[in-house]
Amino acid sequence: MNAPQLNSFVSHRLFEGSTGLYVERNPYRRPLWQQTADDLDFSRALGESEQLCYSALVAHRILLTIYETNSVLLPAQGLGTLKRDYDEFYAPAWRTMGASLRPMLERHVFGFLADAITVSGHWTRDALRAYFDRAIEDGNAAPNEVAQAIEATQHPDVAADSFLIQLALDGLTEASAMSRTLGGAYGPEQSELFKIFIDEFGYGVHEAKHSRLFENLLKSRGMLTDVHSYWSFYLTGPTAVNNYFYYVVENGHFFRYVGAVTFIESIFAKGFADTARTLQRVFGSAVDTRYCDEHAHIDKHHGRMTFEHLLLPLADKHGDEIIPELVRGLEEVRLLLRLADDDLIAQLRWADQAAAHPHAARAGLAGTNVTLARGAPFATRTFDEDRLLVMNQGELDLVISGTGSPLRVRAGEAALIARQRLHGLQAATESCTFSLESTAELRQ
Ligand SMILES: [Fe+2]
Ligand SMILES: [Fe+2]
Repeated sequence: MNAPQLNSFVSHRLFEGSTGLYVERNPYRRPLWQQTADDLDFSRALGESEQLCYSALVAHRILLTIYETNSVLLPAQGLGTLKRDYDEFYAPAWRTMGASLRPMLERHVFGFLADAITVSGHWTRDALRAYFDRAIEDGNAAPNEVAQAIEATQHPDVAADSFLIQLALDGLTEASAMSRTLGGAYGPEQSELFKIFIDEFGYGVHEAKHSRLFENLLKSRGMLTDVHSYWSFYLTGPTAVNNYFYYVVENGHFFRYVGAVTFIESIFAKGFADTARTLQRVFGSAVDTRYCDEHAHIDKHHGRMTFEHLLLPLADKHGDEIIPELVRGLEEVRLLLRLADDDLIAQLRWADQAAAHPHAARAGLAGTNVTLARGAPFATRTFDEDRLLVMNQGELDLVISGTGSPLRVRAGEAALIARQRLHGLQAATESCTFSLESTAELRQ
């Protein structure tokens, strides 16, 4: 059973579909597919193999919204007509409702981590150091499968943009979760973390702030630069990684946060050097990679700073008892990063293949017809099993990527929507009628 407040929360107008594919210049609107939350069961912890299911996507979208009601988001053009959205996004009653739903949603999507990862035995500082050294070495030695997948698609430009969209999850609000670990009093380690934080903020120079460098990267691609313009195109796995950092800090798991942030700061330098190379190969010199170049440089330092001046001194000061939490943070984020990469690679491959062809529909299918009108509110979703989209009347655009061409499906044609793949539907004629057949039924 879902908490009754869940439906009131997601039926808020800020979750209504957008007028186009993107949520333009409005950080408060977060489209969900026709407020489907009432059909989903968030009351149990999903297993590791279920982390990309539809209810996980919806839970992560709601969670990100709940977390961000604690951040200050203002549109670049000024509030103007968005004052009402702003007031409602930050309304105390709505935030309180969100806060009360948070534990259930977090358990739904992060509860599996307790079973998936075991950190047992007695840990010493030396064992901690060796463990992190090894994990970081492995992380930096692994081939960059996302970069490889981007370059292997038929449309690497669309694939690279899809990757940038995932980076935009936190690229445009960078270090917001970190900012919540800076208050309080915890000695020299607090100041060490603050040094990293001010680098992320460009030392107070807005043009050097990492989120600003990311805006310039998007701009060089002709992409939208406002926070969550691409809300509908964030995949489940990458959203989980983004949400994880909020999850640990909001729940007082500071040592897990330190383990996780040490690991990612230590593998980002190499990851962003790879990303810069891939972007340059795909787009040539027109792409502004300073965001990646900055991370390829500064995260060499951030990796060392988090490890030598934050993680190890905390272990020295607070004792071996906290080490399992530091290790758990590393392992949890490593697992979520792997799921995120798998999700993105699967999406890139599916979109690449789906773009190639709709095919003739088999006669005699008897699914429920759905009618969609041109200009209907837009949102995206996934299905937990393969679905065949069968067009009966009119034409429809199956939206399979954030910036690429949609797949036009005409009456008499069908297209496969693979399980867990993010997609949206837009009528390409005044109205169109289609059905979504479960492929399990088709086989019978
Ligand atoms: Fe950064
Ligand atoms: Fe960094």
